[in-house]
Amino acid sequence: MPIFYNEKNRSFKLTAKDTCYMLAVAPGEYLAHVYFGKALPDDDLNYLLRLDENPFTPETNDRDRAVYMDTLPFEYPCHGLGDYREHAFAIEDKKGATTCDLRYKSYRIEDGKPALEGLPATFANTPDEAQTLIITMEDKAAGLEVDLLYTAFADLDVITRSAVVRNVGGDNVTIKRVYSAAVEFDSEKMDMITLNGSWARERALERCRLHHGKQLIDSMRGESSHQNNPFTALCANNADEDSGEVYGFNFVYSGNFVSEAEVTQHKKTRYLMGINSTDFEWLLEPGEAFTAPEVVMVYSDKGLGKMSRTFHDLYRQNLIRGEYKDKRRPILINNWEATYFNFTAEKLVQIAEQASKLGIEMLVMDDGWFGHRDSDNSSLGDWFVYEKKIEGGLKALVDKVNALGMKFGIWFEPEMISPDSELYKAHPDWAIQVKGRPLTLCREQYVLDYSRKDVRDYIYGMMRKILDNANIEYIKWDMNRQLTEVASNALPRERQRELWHRYVLGVYDLMNRLTTDYPHILLENCSGGGARFDPGMLYFSPQIWCSDDTDAIERLKIQYGTSMCYPCSAMGAHVSDCPNHTVGRSTPFTTRGHVAMVGTFGYELDVTKIPQSDRDAIPAQIAEFNKYNALVRTGDHYRIGNMFEDNLWDAWEFVAKDKSEALFEFVQVMCRPNERSRRIKLKGLDPEAYYYEESTPEVKHSGAALMQCGVNIGGLWGDYQSKIMHFIKA
Ligand code: DGJ
Repeated sequence: MPIFYNEKNRSFKLTAKDTCYMLAVAPGEYLAHVYFGKALPDDDLNYLLRLDENPFTPETNDRDRAVYMDTLPFEYPCHGLGDYREHAFAIEDKKGATTCDLRYKSYRIEDGKPALEGLPATFANTPDEAQTLIITMEDKAAGLEVDLLYTAFADLDVITRSAVVRNVGGDNVTIKRVYSAAVEFDSEKMDMITLNGSWARERALERCRLHHGKQLIDSMRGESSHQNNPFTALCANNADEDSGEVYGFNFVYSGNFVSEAEVTQHKKTRYLMGINSTDFEWLLEPGEAFTAPEVVMVYSDKGLGKMSRTFHDLYRQNLIRGEYKDKRRPILINNWEATYFNFTAEKLVQIAEQASKLGIEMLVMDDGWFGHRDSDNSSLGDWFVYEKKIEGGLKALVDKVNALGMKFGIWFEPEMISPDSELYKAHPDWAIQVKGRPLTLCREQYVLDYSRKDVRDYIYGMMRKILDNANIEYIKWDMNRQLTEVASNALPRERQRELWHRYVLGVYDLMNRLTTDYPHILLENCSGGGARFDPGMLYFSPQIWCSDDTDAIERLKIQYGTSMCYPCSAMGAHVSDCPNHTVGRSTPFTTRGHVAMVGTFGYELDVTKIPQSDRDAIPAQIAEFNKYNALVRTGDHYRIGNMFEDNLWDAWEFVAKDKSEALFEFVQVMCRPNERSRRIKLKGLDPEAYYYEESTPEVKHSGAALMQCGVNIGGLWGDYQSKIMHFIKA
């Protein structure tokens, strides 16, 4: 089994496929980190703790206890005991003191993986897929116990972490910080890779060398954010796409987070990830418990590519759920970029009529169908049909679309409230606000207090009326602003700082109810584009809108960054019209299709208005998508080009798990004069097998040659041209 306890030296060894994670009870009953990396045969590596070196252990030299505290590689470091590095856990006790002292109490090992209360998390499909170590730490003086949870997946290089804090004493305790994971590295010679950006350019990859002191990314926006994704990779300075050691961390959470590395005085690195402790507190009364969200940790000994493929496998098998988990998604057409707010039922039916003839399978009615919403300045919270636009009502519209052989999908923004809405008139106190201060408007809207069950129930009641009234088969759940003036009219003073987290729990609660009550509906998450592209959301929706930037060339970078830890099967990607609405660029229709094919695929344009040549190209484009979608969804993804390093071209590949076929895609971003054909090395093939490209079955080359020497792309004339090649095992 993956978890082994060595009684003699009181150490734990977790084996996850070819990865090993070791920790031990150190002198003083502190829990120390021993090793994380490539699997090793040893059960005892406690010599790595250097307990025999100066500074001495507490038992042998109490005078140097403080030095010991400041150097021991703690598994879950606390605030206040002389460990001056960044801590994972801090409290305020009944007297206002902030020192905390967690010591080892006991352990247990369970088959499978326990769920985390109220939180999304990865899961084991069968009890033998994973094993979980639960180490209980205690602070007797504070009356606290903390369970540290570690799950090792048997067939994936994945260890997950989380923590559960219990008040087992008789007094209130306030949690000031409760991170989910801390990991100690014996070196500072690492790079930190993060995914940063802004609206319409999410998840751009940035790589920086670690240096002394603390370096972090975070969010305090109430969502995981456009600006920083809750993902970090720490890797060897010389690691690249295909070689070198990489440690990937991803937070299964959709709110404020922090991801931080600290290089210490002894040139070691401590890494931490968890809920952002800025403006966070949680009052724990006797008998209460708090569960911290999960951190997924992936180790790769073969560069970033292998790390990504491990994340992809884990999320496809052990995070994404529901009917569409393993299914091709319907090819949709969304009216947002086609009409924005300016549409009627008649216009939507016209789009659907054209679309259905071309092979498109679902019409999605985006923003603007409810209340009296003609622009973004009203009606959020009034989830009843805007009869002026949707003449005859929603059911009549859906029936018409269904009669054309198409499914129907609808847009909601359930967390928001417009000042110009019936809901706000009736319940102004339901908006998150600081009484006595003006509320900050953002996109002309406020945020509903989702910590309140009555608010969630009311909104859900309205959504249900819509969903029960017509045959709706898809929902786009949007979220278009960040949180400000974060205070709740329903929480007592001493619990106000809980609102950030309670908000996220409220969102999860409603998504859970929605997906449980409507298991047949395909849910796509969205947040002003891709501000909530995180594993927490993936637990509820098998796909997430990647970005409001639908330009094929911009998408190369966005989808590259997203693929660091999220599977392509989850990336909402559409073909849109040109010039592109965000950047004004015109790209060939074929290239737009090839780039959108990497994700869920669909259209975001007025199909009645696009050039005839584009319209004519749609049936073949759909056939191409259908031909390759199973491979894209289930295969191994290999990044080949990197637009962050060379913005003249990009390329990537999907290889079947059994290596029987591979789809290679290439985009020539800029054409340059007088150049020889670019030659690109394929990846992931069976070196001993022979492959042919589908269009030239008579020409066969070994996988070894295709990977060692590459394929000639041939001349492509013009900027933004693309090409795909399909290699099949002979
Ligand atoms: C932001 C989303 O990302 C868009 O796709 C669209 O749904 C708009 N919101 C609608 O307001």
